Amino acid sequence: MIEKIKEHIAQVEAFNTTNPDEIEQFRIKYLGQKGLLKDFFAEFKNVPNEQKKEFGQTINTLKSKAQDKVNTLKEALENTEETKGVYGDLSRPGEPFQLGSRHPISIVKNKIVNIFSRIGFNVSEGPEIEDDWHNFTALNLPEYHPARDMQDTFFIQTNPDVLLRTHTSSVQVRYMENNKPPIRTISPGRVYRNEAISARSHCFFHQVEGLYVDKGVSFADLKQTLQYFTTELFGKSKIRLRPSYFPFTEPSAEVDVYWGLETETDYKMTKGTGWLEIMGCGMVDPNVLENCGIDSSEYSGFAFGMGIDRIALLLHQIPDIRMLSENDIRFLEQFKSAD
Ligand code: PHE
Repeated sequence: MIEKIKEHIAQVEAFNTTNPDEIEQFRIKYLGQKGLLKDFFAEFKNVPNEQKKEFGQTINTLKSKAQDKVNTLKEALENTEETKGVYGDLSRPGEPFQLGSRHPISIVKNKIVNIFSRIGFNVSEGPEIEDDWHNFTALNLPEYHPARDMQDTFFIQTNPDVLLRTHTSSVQVRYMENNKPPIRTISPGRVYRNEAISARSHCFFHQVEGLYVDKGVSFADLKQTLQYFTTELFGKSKIRLRPSYFPFTEPSAEVDVYWGLETETDYKMTKGTGWLEIMGCGMVDPNVLENCGIDSSEYSGFAFGMGIDRIALLLHQIPDIRMLSENDIRFLEQFKSAD
């Protein structure tokens, strides 16, 4: 009997193939449920005591040799080019996919655009390098108007007619010049003011302008629209309108949203009042409509303008506005999962 097992050991050692079916047959023959090894182990009890030790060692050798053979043949098979094919081993884990991230300004801008597009506003854009007419004069800010001082303008070279726009209201003018009412448009974009740079303000920032012109547009429409907007963006519907002044709207207002006073940050951001100023707005001044070729006896409209940067700081708890323009990858990467 022992001799027979030794013959098998020799056969196992000599066995070689690159055919997966033959390897499987080999495995079943020796190691399968009804394989030879099972039979030999069953023989064990019939073996005379003095031979038991040698017999046991020999079948164990056969077993480990058969097992090793199956393993090495299978491994060799996996490494051959034919089984790898063009794509290699398809069951291997993939390369990690590097996700990009959106800039927080874009995230907030997209949210705002989305909210207004749901109530029929389209998106319009204008140039960042503007002329005096579109940034000031058409908006009821003639030369020497004191309100021009409020917006510390960057002029390009020495020509006072070429400047960096100080607000996106210039796009209102361009849009009204080129489109007939009904008008419902929002205009996001970058604006520039010659202001000292600090944690709270920068010499360039971003605004979204809104403009609605049609027959019979009223202040009530403006308020409803703003309330819808703050509810959608902040989840807060309590707003208040404080009388204010802009040369291009009459009447004009500043919009505050009730943010609440739950956390310390709320106290800081709202200076302890719970109210947060988010935008300027008003009814488009009839002069502005006329300047853009729209009959003010037939049409009326409202406009609003808000800063995106401060809203982004607020929504993402960013402590310093300068972080938005430093392009520090450690900062930007943190917005990977944001929408
Ligand atoms: N353009 C104004 C600003 O930059 C905001 C505003 C826009 C106010 C439209 C009223 C209407 O402060």
